[in-house]
Amino acid sequence: MAKIALITGITGQDGAVLARFLLEKGYDVHGLRPYSAVPDEGRLSDISDDIHLHYADMTDTSSLLRLVETYQPDEIYNLAAMSHVHVSFDMPELTANVNALGTLRLLEVLRIMGPQSGMRMYQASSSEMFGHAPAPQNENTSFEPCSPYGTSKLFGYWSVRNYREAYGLHASNGILFNHESPLRGEEFVTRKIIKAVCEIEAGQRDKILLGNLHAKRDWGHARDYMRGAWMMLQQDIPDDYVLATGQARSVKEFVEAAFSYIGRRIDWRGQGVDEKGYDSKTGACLVEVDPALFRPTEVRHLLGDASRAKEILGWEPEISFEQLVEEMMEADRVLPYGQTTKRYAA
Ligand code: GDD
Repeated sequence: MAKIALITGITGQDGAVLARFLLEKGYDVHGLRPYSAVPDEGRLSDISDDIHLHYADMTDTSSLLRLVETYQPDEIYNLAAMSHVHVSFDMPELTANVNALGTLRLLEVLRIMGPQSGMRMYQASSSEMFGHAPAPQNENTSFEPCSPYGTSKLFGYWSVRNYREAYGLHASNGILFNHESPLRGEEFVTRKIIKAVCEIEAGQRDKILLGNLHAKRDWGHARDYMRGAWMMLQQDIPDDYVLATGQARSVKEFVEAAFSYIGRRIDWRGQGVDEKGYDSKTGACLVEVDPALFRPTEVRHLLGDASRAKEILGWEPEISFEQLVEEMMEADRVLPYGQTTKRYAA
């Protein structure tokens, strides 16, 4: 009989990638459909007939309980979150309600179902929990979160560990470093850069405005990371694992990689808010800093050490940084008639 999976956050990048991965493995895939007057289910458009969406919400315990009781999933992937770090400073309470208490609500549901139910849970923990902790970071690094998003995720992380120990639940934390794909939301820096570079190439805009150009991130591909999440739930013993590529690049380097894909080189001049990126041939200004995009406190350097996942799960990233940039650029390149292609085709 097909295994049953329940994905919270199925409408986001990771949910859409994981749903495809599980469908290919023959799972019966169910997902939460939070109510919204303007639903964004576009990432699921080509698999909408193959999955089951149900109205439920991370802020509504009885809706979660009803879903889990009705469909008895073998595996639950908790990917739902208010996932934008900058926005979390504007809506800290909502962030905590969804990310921290939402995880607790789901754990309570699993506790009610009991360990004998055999249900397994994956918790989308985040490298943002490391915050100011020096790089490289792994499972033994102490957490120093520096955003409401980071603190909310840390609550979820510790709740998973606590419920695992207290009630014998099969619940695992994946501490995932940044992971991207053509399905990434445009409010995150990689997709924002890729989309802007494609529009500049098509003559639809002149420049990109960015915040902190010097932050470093360990960017991998969402497909690799969702495969890793699944691998965690195939283990007999639940545990916590870092997934990362082990290579960090600055926002500036990501900008350079995206422009280089269309054959343009960037020369940087100026400092601080006056730092600008110029086309090395034409001298046109292509990148500027907008201080409104700075965060009140910022994680400067994330660089993950995923040796444990490699050793125990046998997980390694298969898609390189260059392939990631290429795939995102190809998906967003603007056609002559002004349409973007393959937006949801990853
Ligand atoms: N979003 C955004 N927009 N970020 C910018 C910009 C901009 O215009 N300019 C510079 N940045 C910098 C941010 O300050 C940050 O240092 C870096 O680019 C990456 O920002 P995001 O892409 O927004 O991702 P994030 O690192 O804050 O968080 C993502 O990764 C986490 C894992 O570490 C999100 O996906 C989180 O949900 C995830 O947990």
